[in-house]
Amino acid sequence: MSPDATDEDVAHVVERVESVGGEAFVSKGVVRTIIGLVGDLESFHGLNLRTLRGVADVHRISDPYKLVSRQHHAERSTVWVGKGGAGNKRVPIGPDTFTFMAGPCAVESPEQTLEAARMAQSAGATILRGGAYKPRTSPYAFQGLGVRGLEILADVGAATGMPVVTEVVDARDVPVVAEHADMLQIGTRNMANFGLLQAAGDSGMPVLLKRGMTATIEEWLMAAEYIAQRGNLDVVLCERGIRTFEPSTRNTLDISAVPVVQATSHLPVIVDPSHAAGRKDLVVPLSRAAIAVGADGIIVDVHPDPETALCDGPQALLGNDLRELAQACRRLPPVVGRVAS
Ligand code: E4P
Ligand code: PEP
Repeated sequence: MSPDATDEDVAHVVERVESVGGEAFVSKGVVRTIIGLVGDLESFHGLNLRTLRGVADVHRISDPYKLVSRQHHAERSTVWVGKGGAGNKRVPIGPDTFTFMAGPCAVESPEQTLEAARMAQSAGATILRGGAYKPRTSPYAFQGLGVRGLEILADVGAATGMPVVTEVVDARDVPVVAEHADMLQIGTRNMANFGLLQAAGDSGMPVLLKRGMTATIEEWLMAAEYIAQRGNLDVVLCERGIRTFEPSTRNTLDISAVPVVQATSHLPVIVDPSHAAGRKDLVVPLSRAAIAVGADGIIVDVHPDPETALCDGPQALLGNDLRELAQACRRLPPVVGRVAS
């Protein structure tokens, strides 16, 4: 309350809080009075507390997100991806394991996708990534093969036994993507597309939610809350770099986001070093950093012929770089107490 707030002002605030079922605890200091509210945050919103006479400021103490918060669910969660069985492994993403996902940025053809999947699998990846719907800056750039791309991914997933994660960019496509994939990806550009988040939540499929390139961690977790609110807690967060003033890399990998998110949310969090850096030479060092900081996994672009890639060729790994990454993914997770999943 402001220093000149009267006893009447304080009593009025208490009365308003109690009128919506909340409790108000008044602590009177020499100069100021502070009123602590306990109860349902939603019901307090309707009170317009800042407009009440004598109120100087209102501070929220609890997290604005509930279902994804550790205040709601203290244990860190594990999300399982894949149907299980011989043709499709079930892979955990969570606090005890380290999950390596890899594949082509974009699905271009059955041959390219199968080759990229085999490269990924021999490097130790257990989940196949690949884009059938590509969110491009330019409407003239390759937009992905759409449903044909989903079919290719599903076939390659079945041929390799790897569960598949792929991006969905439009709420209307959620059913067809869900039919062909094991996990839906919502990309950086759509992190705040609330209709899409709700549709992905309704699908009941595991969702990989990338951080918006200009989103704060709180905004990202609020986006995850949209999915959780539809009864779907199978959400994995992915730090993929944010926009900063630094032009050496495509984005700036916010490595501290990993432990920050893990402290506040029970959801697993992985890192995408490929889209963060935009350069293949940084993918291995950033992956090592991700493992060391405690990420629950990484997702990496690989391509059998990056020179001809239709999307993001400069960040795609192959050959020695991929072998080096494979070694890091084998050796480092045990050092931080995790097993490869
Ligand atoms: C990749 O997966 C995205 O579609 C890509 O990063 C988009 O970037 P661009 O369209 O600016 O190349
Ligand atoms: C991707 O992983 O294919 C992708 C488009 O990533 P982001 O949304 O992080 O740019």
